[in-house]
Amino acid sequence: MQLLLRKIVTRPHRIAAILSSSKALQELSRHPHPTAQAIGAACYRALIGEVAPEERAAIARIEALRTRAAASQELLQVEDFGAVSPTANLTQEQMYAGRTVQRTVGESSRAASKRPVWTALLYQLVRAFAAKRCVELGCCVGVSAAYQATAMQAAGPGGHLWTLEGAKALAEVSQRHFKQLGLDGQIDVVVGRFQDTLESLLQAQGPIDYAFIDGHHDEQATLRYLEQILPHCQPRAMLVFDDIDWSEGMKRAWQAIWADPRLPMAIDCGEIGVVVLDSTLAERIRVRAPLW
Ligand SMILES: C[S@@+](CC[C@H](N)C(=O)[O-])C[C@H]1O[C@@H](n2cnc3c(N)ncnc32)[C@H](O)[C@@H]1O
Repeated sequence: MQLLLRKIVTRPHRIAAILSSSKALQELSRHPHPTAQAIGAACYRALIGEVAPEERAAIARIEALRTRAAASQELLQVEDFGAVSPTANLTQEQMYAGRTVQRTVGESSRAASKRPVWTALLYQLVRAFAAKRCVELGCCVGVSAAYQATAMQAAGPGGHLWTLEGAKALAEVSQRHFKQLGLDGQIDVVVGRFQDTLESLLQAQGPIDYAFIDGHHDEQATLRYLEQILPHCQPRAMLVFDDIDWSEGMKRAWQAIWADPRLPMAIDCGEIGVVVLDSTLAERIRVRAPLW
């Protein structure tokens, strides 16, 4: 609740949107269908910043790692196979070829790791869903992966996360971070372009309960990953799309996902869009609830 008050005080121009999100998510958490209820409650907990006291120490360890990573001057050669910037308009071939840049761990993490308000949302979603077989597209230095794996642990034993990363140097840094957090047994880092690794991973490890798509950030690629992932999902699976407002192309990709009749439930949280496949939902649910 304190976080909700802080959001209202520090973003006075957003008071109406934040209060309306709070109302919409509380309503969803009272929905008769258990999946809608669980997702509504999870998003609401992320909005107000609620975490069970026994789970706070694990989250504090991840935040300490985020702080260390952000300050790190370790220099890396980073291959980038993504869209690069919202206005670069690269072709699929140019993105596949990639480009190599020199960047410190700190620069990489500060630019790309999801901020605490969003990692809190991922944590609450995975925790509420008790997702066991999870895939992440885009690992960077491992901050969001650490949150999702910790949420799986909090929900019970047997969860596993496969996180895909194109830059070998970032994958190595992440593996080191997972070891430091004691999560290395629970997370596998799959190194290579999503275009080359996703399909075989899904064939080998699917069906999956959950995917977080946080890399590439290109309209066509995002919609292609959706089509690739859908046949490998459990009937109740959840897909989370990041940076749905990052570029005109990503906005169009999210509009297409939002309008997709195969997806019974979608929540627009602002930067992040959440989709649930559960076909037992009798009504089509669409909720706009920006969290920040
Ligand atoms: C936004 S960052 C991920 C941040 C991470 N999820 C977090 O919040 O901690 C996206 C990552 O995806 C990787 N990436 C982008 N396009 C890719 C592609 N086509 N194949 C493989 N990796 C890619 C980048 O190297 C980058 O590290």
